[in-house]
Amino acid sequence: SGGQDLQGKRILITAGPTYEKIDPVRFIGNYSSGKMGIALAEACARRGAEVMLVCGPTSLGTTQAGIRRIDVESAEDMFREATAHFPESDAAILCAAVADFTPAQASDRKIKREADDLVLRLKPTRDIAQTLGQMKREGQKLIGFALETHDETAHAHEKLERKNFDFIVLNSLNDPGAGFRHDTNKITIISRTDSVVYPLKSKKEVAADIVDRLVSSF
Ligand code: C5P
Repeated sequence: SGGQDLQGKRILITAGPTYEKIDPVRFIGNYSSGKMGIALAEACARRGAEVMLVCGPTSLGTTQAGIRRIDVESAEDMFREATAHFPESDAAILCAAVADFTPAQASDRKIKREADDLVLRLKPTRDIAQTLGQMKREGQKLIGFALETHDETAHAHEKLERKNFDFIVLNSLNDPGAGFRHDTNKITIISRTDSVVYPLKSKKEVAADIVDRLVSSF
């Protein structure tokens, strides 16, 4: 597929991991590379969209025109930027691996080694997807991702409803070559009416499949 089928559309994309600060030199993070989200941003921009990319810490860049990028660190930062920019968007694709918990209190000094166990108290972060799902207006599209280790289809359906997604992209950790850090991914796109299984492909090709599905949903 090609052409400028997203001309005039504004698309918000979250990408990458989040870093949750423990002390001035340490954080809780995850293995997300940002590759899938950046591939999506590039695919949307190439097809004519104005893209707002809210990106967690990653060394990856992009030179594609049509992408405005805001770099953030924590789940809280990402929440603030995503909720600020969703109202002006025609669609949001939530590809970021957002931390579910963050230290209840970051230490302002480097934590010292001790003989005893260290107990870190964590508090839940706010769910960006669920919040955007509640904000969603008629005509706006919301697309989520799910990565599960078990009962993936049941969990994907539960998330589709709870977060008010139009469709959800399921990537399984059980498929070799799929998920974090790889250049390839294997997805299933699940909506309320159907479920489509795709073969293992490059993240660029996977992005094109997801964008095709978004275009046909408009
Ligand atoms: O519930 P779970 O984290 O598995 O849901 C994954 C989906 O929700 C992804 O689309 C992810 O970007 C989004 N999410 C979010 N904010 C969170 C947690 C998840 O936007 N705090």
